[in-house]
Amino acid sequence: MEKRTTSGQKMLLTKLHQNKKFFILALSFSLLSPAYVYTTPIYSIIKDYSPAQKEIAKSKNGMVTTQHFIATEVGEKILSKGGNAFDASIAISFTLAVVLPRAGNIGGGGFMVMYDIDSQKSYSIDYREKAPRLASRDMYLDKNGSFNKQKLSTFGYLSSGVPGTVAGLWEVHQKFGSLPWEELLEDAINYAENGFKVTPFMSDVLRAYNKKLSFYDETKNIFQKDYPDFKKDLIQKDLANTLKIISIEGKDGFYKGEIAKKIAISMKENGGLISQYDLENYKAVWREPLKSKYRNLELITMGPPSSGGVHIIQMLNILENYDLQSLGHNSSKYINLLAETMKYAYADRSKYLGDPDFYNVPIKSLTSESYAKNISNNIELGSLVESSDINPGMYIDNESHETTHFSVADKYGNVVSSTYTLNSTFGSGVVIEGTGILMNNEMDDFSAAPGIPNQFGLLGAKANEIAPYKRPLSSMTPTIIMKDNELFLTTGSPGGARIISAVLQSILNIVDFEMDLEEATFAKRIHHQWQPDVLEMEFFIDDNLKNELQEIGYKLKVTNPLTCIQTIMYRNNSFYGYGDFRRPDAFASGEIND
Ligand code: DON
Repeated sequence: MEKRTTSGQKMLLTKLHQNKKFFILALSFSLLSPAYVYTTPIYSIIKDYSPAQKEIAKSKNGMVTTQHFIATEVGEKILSKGGNAFDASIAISFTLAVVLPRAGNIGGGGFMVMYDIDSQKSYSIDYREKAPRLASRDMYLDKNGSFNKQKLSTFGYLSSGVPGTVAGLWEVHQKFGSLPWEELLEDAINYAENGFKVTPFMSDVLRAYNKKLSFYDETKNIFQKDYPDFKKDLIQKDLANTLKIISIEGKDGFYKGEIAKKIAISMKENGGLISQYDLENYKAVWREPLKSKYRNLELITMGPPSSGGVHIIQMLNILENYDLQSLGHNSSKYINLLAETMKYAYADRSKYLGDPDFYNVPIKSLTSESYAKNISNNIELGSLVESSDINPGMYIDNESHETTHFSVADKYGNVVSSTYTLNSTFGSGVVIEGTGILMNNEMDDFSAAPGIPNQFGLLGAKANEIAPYKRPLSSMTPTIIMKDNELFLTTGSPGGARIISAVLQSILNIVDFEMDLEEATFAKRIHHQWQPDVLEMEFFIDDNLKNELQEIGYKLKVTNPLTCIQTIMYRNNSFYGYGDFRRPDAFASGEIND
């Protein structure tokens, strides 16, 4: 990637520099908080390398924003060849599986929300992992019915669900692809076979995850062989071979034959549950995207088994009752309103959200304007309702019933908003022998038992209990917003439970506060998920704000930067993109030939 020094870069670096002391402060808080160990190590960000994004990217021919500049370049290349946003998204997904192994994957799953210009319709595909046939409700509980402390749901073979990524990408190609499938895997194969340069940020992440990535020899030999320096290119020969098989045989190359057999054998030998039967029967599902209006905009987002879309709509419906600008961005009143709104939404998530193929999710009630009005009537600025006094669904009217995000927009008018994941950073830590496939630990997104929080502190109930073939509930929120039938913005983020609140704030920053992309990305984010009853503030909170929020009654906590927004906007015939500096390799660019 060519390095460009611009005034934007200077501003960015100055801002980073100014923020350094806040980062260090955040570090000292986060070290006291074992719950956040899984997140981006903060010291990666305070080191003095510069983020890939130097300025807001602008282009007439389309835009790509991903969490790794190599994947962005691959996307631009596909668009330059005349490929569409769907082609580019497939190539990006396979490339991220190579250059961003912490989250990009073929051993995980995700969701893609799309706008297709030919049909002028929106679509969404669910390629979330599924519980294996032999999974059972209490599989992570011990004989006494308590949650197994050995972290079986987050680490090792038993933590993996049946991967969906290859099936999802295959379906998208069948429906919307314009370039040959093999062409879309070429770059990923090349980077796996011949290696790519490990960035300082990635090197820090690999070092920070030394313990996790050294437990299994297969994983260690790939990702930790250069510990502690990581100065050599990262080569993944087995992964290159697997990708070649997928390139030639398509979806079946993953779900049938040699690769499927290797996965099943490895699982059986190591106490995992995924069988060849599970793989052969995996299907990605086209689902109606959720749609709603926010002010004068049309929102298109992901429905269950992600909770993201339902709660983005629910929260925007509540917030639409206020003039947010008059409250002041990140003022105590504004944060108060956001936090109360989030508490009601996350409380509902704990009870009502799960796989719609197994549980009747009351989408209509949760996203109705009357429900939002009932909630907003009970929010009183300047005070709070204790989380213990908020129950899921309490104002529903009786009469009504490591993740990574990328966004692509092409010059034709197609748009893709895609979030996929291995769940934790580097997923389960398991690489299937001889395949280079890093497996997910998505089973932890189920509720292991009522009252037992998952690794993101999220609670769940019957709607999200484990069952064979069921998909675990997600927070991933790939979202597209249209205005007058044209793209307005597309956005999404990694960050577990914090995805939904980050996407919400990225929308509000642009729509209500009229920020440009850089400002909207820099703005500090807050998060409240009802339980635990804590208001999280990113980076730093100044004394005045702290006092005001504590006076209202909030328990405050300063956290690491936990999310990473990838947004594209379209205004006056130009695309704008910005890669979030919170993961410094993120990069938006639109260097696309006419
Ligand atoms: O689907 C979900 O909601 C989680 N598995 C996402 C995990 C995640 O975002 C971790 N990234 N930092």
